[in-house]
Amino acid sequence: MKILVCGGAGYIGSHMVRYLLAHGHHVVVFDNLSTGHALAVGKARLVVGDLRDRQALRRLYLQRYDAVIHFCAHSIVPHSVADPYAYYENNVAGTLSLLQAMREAGVAKMVFSSTAAVFGHPSSPLLDEHHPTVPINPYGASKLMVEGVLADASRAYGLRSVALRYFNAAGADPSGDIGESHQPETHLIPNILRAGLGQGGRLKIFGNDYDTRDGTCVRDYIHVNDLARAHLKAVEFLHDHEGAHVFNLGNGKGFTVREVIDAARAVTGVNIPYEYAPRRAGDPAVLIASSNKAREFLDWVPAVTDIGDIVETAWRWHRAAKY
Ligand code: UFG
Repeated sequence: MKILVCGGAGYIGSHMVRYLLAHGHHVVVFDNLSTGHALAVGKARLVVGDLRDRQALRRLYLQRYDAVIHFCAHSIVPHSVADPYAYYENNVAGTLSLLQAMREAGVAKMVFSSTAAVFGHPSSPLLDEHHPTVPINPYGASKLMVEGVLADASRAYGLRSVALRYFNAAGADPSGDIGESHQPETHLIPNILRAGLGQGGRLKIFGNDYDTRDGTCVRDYIHVNDLARAHLKAVEFLHDHEGAHVFNLGNGKGFTVREVIDAARAVTGVNIPYEYAPRRAGDPAVLIASSNKAREFLDWVPAVTDIGDIVETAWRWHRAAKY
């Protein structure tokens, strides 16, 4: 297939690009490099541009593509609270611009990068697709708005779409060539490994008084290559399914912050200096995905479910990060 990967220079997008190339697909990346890295796209062609630039989208000749996989977004929750216009502009208006250009060009399949942040505070620890969606920050709200646009577009224009709600994307390609590199870095596993490498001081554990087995928050860490595989399965699913679909993607297991630190210590053999800090605003105690729907309809099961294995791939990247 010929696939346009918007946001293919970012963390999850670059793993998607590598996965598609490895499976013989033709890939073009469109990315404004606001948070992505040109080095991350590897052998794929990179077109630098912004989704809100309709001329730039026209120059892509979208009619040549079988599908668009769309990762472009701002994704830092506290920034979205401080500057919601920036999030709605980039994440919602940017997506609308892309969808309009796809419609003009007759491209009828999109796989969209959504998030567990659409759920807000969970009313049960294990979340399936029927759990109410009540986002508690503009980042989650912006992603949920796009899910709504996709549903409307399916009814009005026949757009076929899958929105994939990731839980905690983690790990890196085992090659060590690509990985997670955010500025600033807010995510747990990169921060743990940086603390272990003596970069950025001691890890702060945000809260040790949650109602969990050791008082720290439980999250569902899903390997980034398992996410990439799910996206390709979602594109294939759209060959014979109309409509707008949503799937939760996680590995179905929860690990506490302390357990992730222990796994990192075992894998790296280095000490992870940490200290306890107050709770971070908006952190639910436990978030675990039920991915039964993806198992049933996408025939997808995560391959890397052991937290040590996930952290080990992240470590290969972080100890010699190329960007
Ligand atoms: N944490 C720390 N110290 C850190 C970083 C994180 O203790 O330096 C803790 C957090 O408090 C949380 C857990 O580690 O309990 C995981 O935090 P992350 O920031 O790695 O991930 P989140 O669960 O906050 O966020 C992820 C995605 C978001 C998405 C959200 C959906 O990264 O994009 O899940 O709930 F919005």
